[in-house]
Amino acid sequence: MTDTTTLSGKTALVTGALGGIGTAICDALAADGLRLVLADLDEVRLREMAARMPAGAYPLAMDIGNADAVAEGCERMRREFGPVDVLVNNAGILSNNKLETAGAEEWRRVMAVNLDGAFYLSQQCVPHMKRQRWGRIVNIASWAWKAGGLTAGTAYTASKGGMVSLTFSIAREFAGCGITANGIAPCYVMTPMVSEQLTEEQRANLLASIPVGRFCEPGEIAHAVRFLVSPMAGFITGEIVDMNGGLQFD
Ligand SMILES: NC(=O)c1ccc[n+]([C@@H]2O[C@H](COP(=O)([O-])OP(=O)(O)OC[C@H]3O[C@@H](n4cnc5c(N)ncnc54)[C@H](O)[C@@H]3O)[C@@H](O)[C@H]2O)c1
Repeated sequence: MTDTTTLSGKTALVTGALGGIGTAICDALAADGLRLVLADLDEVRLREMAARMPAGAYPLAMDIGNADAVAEGCERMRREFGPVDVLVNNAGILSNNKLETAGAEEWRRVMAVNLDGAFYLSQQCVPHMKRQRWGRIVNIASWAWKAGGLTAGTAYTASKGGMVSLTFSIAREFAGCGITANGIAPCYVMTPMVSEQLTEEQRANLLASIPVGRFCEPGEIAHAVRFLVSPMAGFITGEIVDMNGGLQFD
């Protein structure tokens, strides 16, 4: 029987573990005593990161946009490290092209990583959660899903809208099985996605428009994840937590 009163000793799989937000999420969950499955692309860096996780970690190098790679990687993970109790679909890629300039290849790749990956991983992780009647899924979407994307492009914006619908669908389907599915919709978190992929002018304009007067910090997203996966958050499902510094209230 799984102990539903504590996170300590449970296992969380975090995709995009090497990124700005992913690393902060892994550090926060490790501090709560979780074992981590670190999923990203660079095997060497994943091994280095796994070595510094206090409660144990498993490096899982795979392209989450590839169904076969995810199936094979998750099978190996279950054999060598065990099943997953908490899934954080965080990996994502940004593209800024709007409708008239976004190509078919860009559309497919962004959808594959941002949306298909979350679908494949949810499919892989839900059966164990269902068996033990406890599980947590958190999807890192984006404010773009309802704002239409200010700087973000059409494929990115649509992929995040899809992720929100995927969250609702999973929340609805498994509410009676002890599994919650929630999302976080951040905007402009200080990671390379903002520091390197936006121009100086875009950053200055954005900063002026965010009511709290600064960009979000990765640790603040991690804090929200920590809350959503906590034992006492079991009545919250199908919720998308806005983290937009007051840009939009609803
Ligand atoms: N930074 C922001 O302002 C912001 C705003 C809203 C939403 N988000 C979302 O937060 C999430 C994390 O973003 P971040 O800012 O930390 O970005 P990041 O670029 O720092 O990290 C993304 C990580 O995902 C990994 N990744 C990319 N493609 C992958 C694939 N095919 N398979 C496995 N791993 C892959 C990358 O290697 C990287 O480590 C993303 O989903 C992003 O869309 C970010």
